Amino acid sequence: MTQLTNGKLFETVSTGSEQQLERARQSIAGGDNSTMRVLPYHLPLVATRGQGSTIWDVDDNEYIDLNMAYGPLIFGHRPPAVIDAVVRQLTESGSQLGFPAEMTARVAEKVKLLYPHIELMRFSSTGSEAIAAALRLARTFTEKRYIIAFEGHYHGSSDAIFNRYHAPLEDLPEGPYGPATPGTLGMNGAPHDVLVCRWNSPEALEQCLSDHADDVAAVIMEPVMGNGGVIPPNPDFLDVARALTHEHGALLIFDEVITGMRVAPGGAQDRYGVEADITILSKALGGGFPISALGSTREIMQSIVEGRLFHGGVYSGNTLVMAAADAVLDELHANKEGIYQHLESVSETLATGVEEIFTRLGIPHRVHCVGPMISMVLTHDDAGPITSYREMRRHCDFDKYIRFQHQLQQSGVYFHPNQFEPLFLSTAHTHEDMATVLERIEDGARAVLLG
Ligand SMILES: Cc1ncc(COP(=O)(O)O)c(C=O)c1O
Repeated sequence: MTQLTNGKLFETVSTGSEQQLERARQSIAGGDNSTMRVLPYHLPLVATRGQGSTIWDVDDNEYIDLNMAYGPLIFGHRPPAVIDAVVRQLTESGSQLGFPAEMTARVAEKVKLLYPHIELMRFSSTGSEAIAAALRLARTFTEKRYIIAFEGHYHGSSDAIFNRYHAPLEDLPEGPYGPATPGTLGMNGAPHDVLVCRWNSPEALEQCLSDHADDVAAVIMEPVMGNGGVIPPNPDFLDVARALTHEHGALLIFDEVITGMRVAPGGAQDRYGVEADITILSKALGGGFPISALGSTREIMQSIVEGRLFHGGVYSGNTLVMAAADAVLDELHANKEGIYQHLESVSETLATGVEEIFTRLGIPHRVHCVGPMISMVLTHDDAGPITSYREMRRHCDFDKYIRFQHQLQQSGVYFHPNQFEPLFLSTAHTHEDMATVLERIEDGARAVLLG
């Protein structure tokens, strides 16, 4: 690829990608299987392959990938240990046996070493499925009705919980909490009996729990909010949520679909030292293969054990994804320290570098970083600390970020054009990658964010 004089590595949008997407639109609704990959403001990018921290498009343009498939690729694209394990499983034993397999117990035992509160678990294929099952489990165990979630958090697209995604300010509850609003057309009303509360507000959570005294089955959260910009929990917020749920007889569910095996080997519970009653894992656990896990104590899981609560799925725990998870867990157990030191170190380099560049250039921004989960948010004004979704929503300048993302994509750095989507790093990202990214960020910022 040639370096052009304007600092871009290729001239314009990938024309091959445009053509491929146009072709796809003739047989795939909207051109792709996830709306989040073909938003109206996406610059076309149809990928052909990935390796380590890099992806290539159909025109063979090369990008440093800061999206990592929305989080799962904790070891980068095509990590040899995971790929080898999957190929071995596929060629020597088969992808889908349709019977209990020894490997499932082996993987579960390795998960339990990282998440000590989990005594029993069930595997399935997506985060949405595992979360819908977790909500049923909480209602079954407590015999209570309400679920409390938080503004800006995303827990999958099931009818059980899909609250309005990236809600505009006018759609947020007026008070400290309110009923969930439907996340999509066709839901036959809002998710039933789901209340949405302000993030990082112990007062709001306490009021919501007290107002529904003795009828809250569970409080569910992303322990580090990652779907409305990265917003970590305030010091003590997780402890307060833990204490309040105990007090009110509700279960605490940590949706660690993003944070599990990412912000620490044992996820956010490990990083912050707070244990959930029910944990959901998914993305990094599979290293790029579709797996999720729902885990809890033996007592809470009893209704599944007895079959009173139905849980199943043709592809749940198939041996192909189990082989991938087994390899991910082996890597984590073998080299925990090295892996997380590296992830923290490249993330720190990127976050502090972006902070320095935007500050020096006088560009209003906020950089939030929890390990390899980063937001570099462009704001309308000097926002000050942002600790809630509504503050994030109020200050974000989406149009500016889209312009900036387009510029960076054209210079060979990819991250999602919606600034509510975090940047994700992997063990494949090097300090050299970060130096290149920072150089291009500075060039891009000078080109489209000044004046
Ligand atoms: C925190 C969180 N929970 C749940 C989900 C849903 O997972 P899936 O898309 O696999 O159903 C996601 C997906 O991005 C997520 O980020």
